Amino acid sequence: MMYRAVRSILFRLDAEAAHDLTVRQIERLQSVPSLLRAVERSARARAEGPEVALWGLRFRNPVGIAAGFDKNARMVPFLAALGFGFVEVGTVTFAPQAGNPQPRMFRVAEHGAIINRLGFNNEGAVAVAARLESLWNHRGRGESSGEQVPVFANLGKNRDVPLAGAAESYRMAYRMLAPLAHGVVINVSSPNTPGLRELQSPDHLRELLTVLRQERLRLAFRAPGDHPLLVKVAPDLSERELADVATVCLELADGIVATNTTVSRPGMSGAEGREAGGLSGRPLLSLSTEVVRRLRQLAGAGYPLIGVGGIFDAAGARAKLEAGADLVQVYTGFVYRGPRLPLHIAAGLRSNR
Ligand code: FNR
Repeated sequence: MMYRAVRSILFRLDAEAAHDLTVRQIERLQSVPSLLRAVERSARARAEGPEVALWGLRFRNPVGIAAGFDKNARMVPFLAALGFGFVEVGTVTFAPQAGNPQPRMFRVAEHGAIINRLGFNNEGAVAVAARLESLWNHRGRGESSGEQVPVFANLGKNRDVPLAGAAESYRMAYRMLAPLAHGVVINVSSPNTPGLRELQSPDHLRELLTVLRQERLRLAFRAPGDHPLLVKVAPDLSERELADVATVCLELADGIVATNTTVSRPGMSGAEGREAGGLSGRPLLSLSTEVVRRLRQLAGAGYPLIGVGGIFDAAGARAKLEAGADLVQVYTGFVYRGPRLPLHIAAGLRSNR
């Protein structure tokens, strides 16, 4: 199937309506085991390599789907079947949340970009935990179509929780979801929850990570591996702020995801970038790559980094890896380039093209 034809239909719809339609169609496809297996078979060999080992986990390739695409963990088997090396679900907040008023997601097609101010619309930790639980139960009985890739849960705080209560709110979500995921990403970098990004300041971040590490000691985990705790950072931090985040993370977190969307509008004139919200896609590529490069300098060799922002092809992924990332993720590139993108990038990385 040519994605270009599908895309021309989807792109006539409002961006969020197109996303919701995609989610529904994927859920329908996924519910037919023979269809899911067919997708999987066609992708399996081409998804193998270049392999990455981190946190006691094996990644068959370094290309993941970034947070926000599958906020409620509805599409994990299908995303794995398409060849992604790992899946990050969420952002999930402890309580369900409707998010900001619509419209709140906008394509800027001439720039290969998206602006969103969704504001953590999600079904909440209990509903998402139930879905992850059923994935594990299917795996256990061997019913799942086979591709079992690492699944990370991205956690946020509800909008009405004040900063002083943030650590407790993350802790409750962590307790529900961490045992059912291979790792957890703490989102302290969305621009669409007022005050959230202040959690990147050293004192807040230290408190948050300390609380979650304590919780980690108490939990019984279903997933194998080291149960890494990662922090997702904004691309808009000053040099000083980034250095402070790196210091706290080196001490208390197991890795960093760089980066979230930007509140800046690189290379865009006022008109195209006028919607409020976080910008993703091509205009974010070099900004996020430079954050990865700086973090690698600050952290030194061996500290796990996931690079995300503006990757549309193998060259973009390679730029992140060469800047120091161990793994990469895509979201906006997947919307513009379609379902073959993970296989295309993995193949390009293997062949060094
Ligand atoms: C996102 N992103 C995101 N990140 C996050 O940590 N939690 C979230 O809920 C979301 N939601 C979300 C929605 C939409 C519509 C977009 C486009 C993006 C950010 C995403 O994970 C990624 O960090 C950035 O989009 C940069 O990567 P791309 O899109 O340029 O590949």
